Amino acid sequence: MKIIRAKDYKDMSRKAANIISAQVIMKPYAVLGLATGSSPVGTYAQLIDWYNKGDIDFSEVTTINLDEYRGLPREHDQSYWYFMHKNFFDSVNVQPDRIFVPDGSNPDAAEACREYDAIIQRAGGIDLQLLGIGHDGHIGFNEPGAAFELGTHCVDLTKETIEANKRFFNNDETLVPRQAYTMGIKTIMQARKVLMVASGADKAQIIKKAFFGPVTPEVPASILQMHPDFILVGDQDALSLI
Ligand code: F6R
Repeated sequence: MKIIRAKDYKDMSRKAANIISAQVIMKPYAVLGLATGSSPVGTYAQLIDWYNKGDIDFSEVTTINLDEYRGLPREHDQSYWYFMHKNFFDSVNVQPDRIFVPDGSNPDAAEACREYDAIIQRAGGIDLQLLGIGHDGHIGFNEPGAAFELGTHCVDLTKETIEANKRFFNNDETLVPRQAYTMGIKTIMQARKVLMVASGADKAQIIKKAFFGPVTPEVPASILQMHPDFILVGDQDALSLI
């Protein structure tokens, strides 16, 4: 495990973007596992900036996102498909046929998850997986208690996650999807490199627990202690307790 200290969110984003950029320069046809959420938005913005300056080219890259709400069509402004296009894909040259997000519109969970695992396999596995971390230690939608050995699967969202997400659905809990398709911990652990970004004092406690406490399914991110190439880039506030 490597921990890189950044001054603030902007610095964290630049450092994370540098690592992704190095990956793409070393392997132009790299497979990038991507995440949504507020943590990586600055990283995407930095990559867009370098793309616009001609410093990075995504034309051969494949992207495979971590998760998607079950039951939301792609066009829904809260779908992760929509988020990724708005925050990244619409501004860079990743080829549309090399962009993968779990198919939240497929009601057949077993089929949707099986197909996603097949996509990852056909791509040759993930070279670099970008992650954020939830306050309870979740990664993707793998909530506390999630089995470490799962591939892509359908999860019921916890009360806390529904509560945390309700701000994106007019603050109406009844509009928040109840399930999601997510890569499993096994999928994440099979990525050849894992890069986590964490920012803000509200993440300090969980960062300490996940990376300086026991490895346990109760703190899903803690398994990353066992990953052979795990890099945590955190800002001062997120790393303040370690
Ligand atoms: C995003 C994802 C989630 C987030 C986590 C942290 O695709 O799967 O696990 O990474 O909830 O979210 P933020 O970055 O908004 O604090």
